[in-house]
Amino acid sequence: LSEFEIAVVDRSGAPRALEARGGEVLMHLLRDQIDVTIGACGGVLSCGTCLVILDEESAAHLPPPGPDEQELLEALDAPPAARLACQLVLTDADAVLRLAIAREA
Ligand code: FES
Repeated sequence: LSEFEIAVVDRSGAPRALEARGGEVLMHLLRDQIDVTIGACGGVLSCGTCLVILDEESAAHLPPPGPDEQELLEALDAPPAARLACQLVLTDADAVLRLAIAREA
């Protein structure tokens, strides 16, 4: 699996290019490279701190959320293109991803 970059807007609104590789969980990447407060629950779908808002093309490119992710997205009243980064395992095809980290609730 190769390395690639994904375009992320951080919570201050600044654009960042993050180094990623296939097989990595998106939440780990955001936590390690941007903000340690992302992923407070460790990826067990109970915190919502890993909420990201994708652009439309990126959202369509990803497999749809599973029922547990969907449930938390609804509980968070998340917009349609939002996902929980702890549930997203990157593949080499995800070099096209563009997303923003949601502001803390
Ligand atoms: S890390 Fe807690 S819901 Fe994703």
